[in-house]
Amino acid sequence: MPDLFLRACRREPVERTPVWIMRQAGRYLPEYRALRERHDFLTCCRTPELACEITLQPVRRLGVDAAILFSDILLPLPGMGVEVAFDPAPRIDAPVRSGREVDALRVPDAREATPEVLEAVRLLRRELEGKVPLIGFAGAPFTLAAYLVEGGGSSRWSRLKTLLFSEPATAHRLLAKCAETIAPFLSEQVRAGAQAAMLFDTWAGILSPADYAAFALPYARRVFDAVGAAAAESGSPVPRIYYAADAGGYLEKVRGIGAEVIGLDWRLGLDEARRRLGDGFALQGNLDPCALLAPPERVSERVRELLASAPEVGHVFNLGHGILPETPPEHAERLVETVRALSSRPLASRSCP
Ligand code: CP3
Repeated sequence: MPDLFLRACRREPVERTPVWIMRQAGRYLPEYRALRERHDFLTCCRTPELACEITLQPVRRLGVDAAILFSDILLPLPGMGVEVAFDPAPRIDAPVRSGREVDALRVPDAREATPEVLEAVRLLRRELEGKVPLIGFAGAPFTLAAYLVEGGGSSRWSRLKTLLFSEPATAHRLLAKCAETIAPFLSEQVRAGAQAAMLFDTWAGILSPADYAAFALPYARRVFDAVGAAAAESGSPVPRIYYAADAGGYLEKVRGIGAEVIGLDWRLGLDEARRRLGDGFALQGNLDPCALLAPPERVSERVRELLASAPEVGHVFNLGHGILPETPPEHAERLVETVRALSSRPLASRSCP
């Protein structure tokens, strides 16, 4: 069903729940590891033919209902003047912590700084031949800024919070530059043919609700506004998906972010999320990725339980975070098969012709 995912994002009735998996292309797949033996990660991201091939691997193996461009949220950084290495966790040797360093950041033209990402989108649309829709994505400004300041991942994010709390004006200048970089980066993906646009705000959950409202929400909204304008020009509706990790403390605020679909992790039940967000949003998620480390029959049980708590209309099945590299691929296959088998339902219009 080529448009199952897009219809669920629009909260239209669907004959079964669409499913895709965050990080569905990656190290748990032997075919990905085989390619990575010959090419490093950045080369894979920056060579349209390789990015295209890797994007298609899980579509072929799992039969998921959407493809997500193989890329990374940190790819726009070199265009801003910041080099990043992946080994495999991201590492920035010259992090951005002072006002002077923030002011030195460039705001690149996406078509000049990341042409290969846009070329991969165009190539994928041709290769996919309309079989499943293609999701383009970027990191939300707050999450991108988190990496820029910290220089990599962190457990406490104390350098980032030191900047936010001691020099809020500098932090806002940094966040504005991130938003000005990401808005065209994601909008250009839509112009190149991405049929849905997703922002990953992986680290927003480290903030209090008030800090979320100050430092994360307005900048993600700027990006979604720009993406909405790019989609309106192209004349086709492009669902905007906001991945709100650890969102329990700030979920109501997400209503105003400008997304039609809210992605959630497993810390929040889908039924509670539905109550708190209201009916106006589709939900995406939210199985714990560790559920796929259990034997396949347990995977099926977890899928059944999650489907029981999911809304009938407007649910896209996914994990609550990226699939883990140690996941046996057969367990991912079982997940997709089970969602397909258990969520089938007759469409009202079919049962009453
Ligand atoms: O979902 C997909 O299949 C598309 C590809 C994709 C990657 N990264 C490829 C990748 C997507 C959507 C991302 C998003 C991303 N990248 C996020 C947001 C989502 C999330 O997981 O929270 C973040 C925070 C990053 C930053 C990043 N890139 C980290 C923390 C890491 C290392 C940790 C890890 O998961 O391995 C990367 C590297 C990375 N990005 C890999 C892949 C396949 C592994 C690189 C390798 O092959 O060696």
